[in-house]
Amino acid sequence: MKYAPIDPGLFKTNRERLAKLMPPKSLAVLNSNDMLPTNADGTMRLWQNSDLFYLSGIDQEESIFLLYPDASDEKRREILFLRESNPTLATWEGHKLTKDQAREISGIKTVLWLSDFPRVFHQLMCECDGVCLNTNEHQRAVVEVETRDARFVRDCRRRYPLHDYHRLARYMHRLRMVKSDLEIDLIKNACALTAKGFRRVLEFVKPGVTEMEIEAEYAQEFIRGGGGFAYLPIIASGKNACVLHYIDNDQVCRKGQLVLLDVGASYAHYHSDLTRTLPISGRFTRRQKEVYNAVLRVFRETIRRMVPGKLSKDLQKEAEQLTENELLELGLIKKTAVKKQDPDKPAFKQYFMHGVSHPLGLDVHDVGCTTEPMQPGWVLTCEPGIYIPEEELAVRLETDILITENGNIDLMSDVPIEAEEIEQIMNARGASE
Ligand code: GLY
Ligand code: MN
Ligand code: MN
Repeated sequence: MKYAPIDPGLFKTNRERLAKLMPPKSLAVLNSNDMLPTNADGTMRLWQNSDLFYLSGIDQEESIFLLYPDASDEKRREILFLRESNPTLATWEGHKLTKDQAREISGIKTVLWLSDFPRVFHQLMCECDGVCLNTNEHQRAVVEVETRDARFVRDCRRRYPLHDYHRLARYMHRLRMVKSDLEIDLIKNACALTAKGFRRVLEFVKPGVTEMEIEAEYAQEFIRGGGGFAYLPIIASGKNACVLHYIDNDQVCRKGQLVLLDVGASYAHYHSDLTRTLPISGRFTRRQKEVYNAVLRVFRETIRRMVPGKLSKDLQKEAEQLTENELLELGLIKKTAVKKQDPDKPAFKQYFMHGVSHPLGLDVHDVGCTTEPMQPGWVLTCEPGIYIPEEELAVRLETDILITENGNIDLMSDVPIEAEEIEQIMNARGASE
């Protein structure tokens, strides 16, 4: 494991919270994600099922977690099923979790081998009334590839057609939206790695470096720190920054351009999400600084409004209004155009066309109840931007905000953001030309 052991109390509490939401006499089953194939006999690394990890801390393929809070046999209220090792597996793939190790990580007392699953599952299905199974209900998910959970849903419904089926995702989204202190600490670890990577890059960026060299600088910090990239990094110089999901990262950074860095680390499956925009030569031009400070004002004011009770859709509207005002000041849109605009196609959308915030946690666009008012314990990004393709110029600024009872905390407030501070750091090491 590349990360420090996690207090199993985190997973235990998560299971207790889930048990309280489940209908009486129902059980829940969660499967590890597949090791996805590449080509020929290649596979990708395991990207664990976030819900399974949330409830067990288990980071191994082919694991199954079963929760049945009302089971008559106390020992069968929480069961973890693991892949059993053998000499061949040990030779080719190395160590697999022993039952004791799995108990220690998860706090689950009953750990069985996978070969026991069909028998135990059938016995418990004969005892329970309902089954909670997992489907990907993220609003923006494109579900084409069938997961192990999805195959399990299909198989289970075929074998047991008369049980009451429930959507586990409903409960998981509700639980995962509010982060516990232990989770916040893990997100802070991810944020600290991101900050380290960014500071390294601040020292590194200068005319002539390539976007992929910048990516390598981040990788150096993230991997050394036991983490990794939370998502495909966006390292976009000049006009590339106007492509919202630019991931080619193969261009040369040129004097006079900006480079947009949307790069965050993950640590122990928890994510951070940061964007900063730097002047490649170490100094913003006047126009670049105007746009930069416009985005910075929207950023600061939007953060100020991220408080308990706020609806995400209202925050979005307010950030759009703030951006519209800035776009008028920047001369990018005209008052007359705003007055007669089609409300479904407002003028600002030409320069700011994405969401200003999303939940963050075990997934970078985390699951949650985003139609409900913000609550203490939510972690959300704040990420306004202005994209001007005709000027080959774009600025986005992003940070991660913890909502608290008394307002909010910027989890990356130590990452330089003022234009002057960025210039000062870049020039102190003699970057400018
Ligand atoms: N890095 C992806 C996002 O900002 O949402
Ligand atoms: Mn984001
Ligand atoms: Mn981002």
